[in-house]
Amino acid sequence: MPRTQDKKIHLAAFVTAGPGRPGGWRYPASESGWLDAAYYQGIARTLEHGLFDLAFFADILAVPDRYQGSNDTQLRYGALGSLRLDPVVVLSIMAAATKHLGLASTRSTSHYEPFEVARSFATLDHLSAGRAAWNVVTSFQDAEARNFSKKQQVPRNKRYDRADEFLEVVFKLWDSWEDDALVFDRQTPLFADPEKVNYIDHQGEWFNVRGPLNVARPPQGYPVILQAGASDRGRDFAARWADAIFVSHDSFDSAKAFYTEIKDRARSHGRDPDSLKVLPAATPLVGETQAIVEEKDRALRALVDPHAGLSTLSYHLDVDLSAYPLDAALPDIDVPGVQGHYHEVREATDRDRLTLRELGKRYGSRYEGDLIGTPDKVADGLERWFRGGACDGFMISAPFQPGGFEDFVRLVVPELQRRGLYRTVYEGKNLRENLRLARPEVGAWRARAAAHASKEAA
Ligand SMILES: Cc1cc2nc3c(=O)[nH]c(=O)nc-3n(C[C@H](O)[C@H](O)[C@H](O)COP(=O)(O)O)c2cc1C
Repeated sequence: MPRTQDKKIHLAAFVTAGPGRPGGWRYPASESGWLDAAYYQGIARTLEHGLFDLAFFADILAVPDRYQGSNDTQLRYGALGSLRLDPVVVLSIMAAATKHLGLASTRSTSHYEPFEVARSFATLDHLSAGRAAWNVVTSFQDAEARNFSKKQQVPRNKRYDRADEFLEVVFKLWDSWEDDALVFDRQTPLFADPEKVNYIDHQGEWFNVRGPLNVARPPQGYPVILQAGASDRGRDFAARWADAIFVSHDSFDSAKAFYTEIKDRARSHGRDPDSLKVLPAATPLVGETQAIVEEKDRALRALVDPHAGLSTLSYHLDVDLSAYPLDAALPDIDVPGVQGHYHEVREATDRDRLTLRELGKRYGSRYEGDLIGTPDKVADGLERWFRGGACDGFMISAPFQPGGFEDFVRLVVPELQRRGLYRTVYEGKNLRENLRLARPEVGAWRARAAAHASKEAA
């Protein structure tokens, strides 16, 4: 489906509040300020200079220990889950250094309470003048459940049941203050109009919450909702609730098939499919010349131990891959964890006949989207996916931080602008407007809940 000229690529940045990539933190040009406010503020300024829609933090609530039944490989190799700061706190620091950049954090519906989540994101939305976004995850590791006084996680379907009700409670809490409830009239006095601040009296299967929230309705109405569900239930959840979704695909064809399917699902929930943005993960490695990029690529890959990649893949799949021989291909397995990551590695293993060792090396240094080259080549790859109808934009990861983002902003952003594919200024006054999403009125969530209920009954 060809694109109309006025649609532009949306860009989110996958920032890690820790070392993130097992080769990236060892790369000499990377910086090690994971525990410094200035490090995150610097990244935020770079992304805003590059007119990114938002900075996004994934989150993990445990140091993963699925591989070899231990967290040794995560810690030793500085893998994805080795060190993670609380992302909402980091975003507040980034908010203070920027004016337009959206600020997105993950919060788990399985381990937090709706009141805490509604309050955190309402607060961030106010303090950033409408730039907050929440990535809704249900979490998929027993290690995380064990940090929240549970023996193990509940099964996926139950997690999504809880998540559906969690979202309803959060929306009710954000709606518990009408938009004009905060009057702040010194004379009368009328600080907040009690007629416009309402109990929610939610009583459900998972939650009993009285409300109201003690924060006024967020400037965006609801902070932007992000999601990355991959299972059938996860896709349905995303199609119902999310404003934008993150996905990872190993090929244009699978990305395009997913894009078509999820937009159809959004339609079946009574939504305009354009109100759900799809952002596949992409990790460009860019340089001024092909020779520079090839040298960077070689150096980065040499720094990745296969066990580091297998450790992270074990965490993503929730399967201990150390049970399989390193020099044979990964057999077909049942995956309780992230289906999307399994499809991605299955596709790569079968196509390229990878052994597990090679897969580990590749997963540890994986650059989604095959975007390794000069600015022109990287822009060609992004343009192909966007114009070919496989996405509405991208979730850009950096092979190393913060230099990977700096290179992208310096070299690729101007090329995308020259092609008319990317904004030259922030058009909106908040994140929703930049994403071209309407501001939800009080009660807007109910239409989606009703469409869902009638679908279930059918
Ligand atoms: C780009 C991307 C980012 C994700 N970030 C997180 C995260 O920060 N924390 C988390 O627990 N899960 C994260 N996930 C996993 C998803 O939330 C989801 O649980 C997973 O895709 C499995 O989907 P399912 O629950 O429908 O099987 C992410 C997935 C993708 C593709």
